[in-house]
Amino acid sequence: MKSVSVGNVTLALEDRGGSRSQAEPSFSKPALLLVHGFPLDHTMWREQIEYFSVHGRVIAPDLRGFGESSNAPDDGSELAAVSMAAYADDLAALLDQLGVDRPIVFCGLSMGGYIAWQFCKKHGRRLAALVVCDTRAIADSPQAAAGRAELAKRTLTEGTEPVVAAMLPKFFGPETIAQQRPCVADTVAAMHRASPIGIASALGAMATRPDMTASLAEIRVPTLVVVGEHDVISTADEMHGIAERIADAELVVIPGAGHISPLEDPEAFNHALERFLREKAGWN
Ligand code: MLT
Repeated sequence: MKSVSVGNVTLALEDRGGSRSQAEPSFSKPALLLVHGFPLDHTMWREQIEYFSVHGRVIAPDLRGFGESSNAPDDGSELAAVSMAAYADDLAALLDQLGVDRPIVFCGLSMGGYIAWQFCKKHGRRLAALVVCDTRAIADSPQAAAGRAELAKRTLTEGTEPVVAAMLPKFFGPETIAQQRPCVADTVAAMHRASPIGIASALGAMATRPDMTASLAEIRVPTLVVVGEHDVISTADEMHGIAERIADAELVVIPGAGHISPLEDPEAFNHALERFLREKAGWN
């Protein structure tokens, strides 16, 4: 894995495929930036990294405080300083560091989608197309925000276990849980790789994120909206509402999947994403 310094953090990332030479056909394809959900890391995209890097450039970072990326500050004194906009700025700076100056396809899942809305707002000129998976546009309710504050407090004193217990039951469809498919254990391992400070910071950032519903109408790039049929965090109905508010959007529901649809049913997910990339982002 590569690592790149961005401001006061070091971000770890996979950067695979595509050509860096203008003479190669894949140079003209927009890079695909894969942004993971909470409290995971780039490994949730492993099936997409393998599949799509054969055809073009795929960049999959660990957000600050997750996976192998560092977190700032180290002492946890400024937890509230992180925000969805700050994560979006990290990603724009990462693209600068990698020399990616052409518009990209931003693909974010759940918290990665919360970051996508901020990326659209602050760095919209860098976008060729958008993919939002299993995410929400509304802000947290006061009750949800209070729950996150409590979980952040416990994570800072007890470590990653409370967050695993809180999140895992909401991540997969019923069959995947019943069969204990390998993606379940892999997801638990990813959650344990996150730093408690990174988790607490992200919980604070999610609890204070703004309602972006009104901004959806400002999105002008082609957009793919993907949701697992059984997603209990961002339901298919809610994501249908998101797709309706974006001018050029298409909704795909992945049958049988829950919240982490790219990992749970990579075949169906990759099929939908590949078609979208071909039709709307010049990945021919
Ligand atoms: C995620 O998958 O990123 C989280 O479930 C988002 C959230 O808790 O709101």
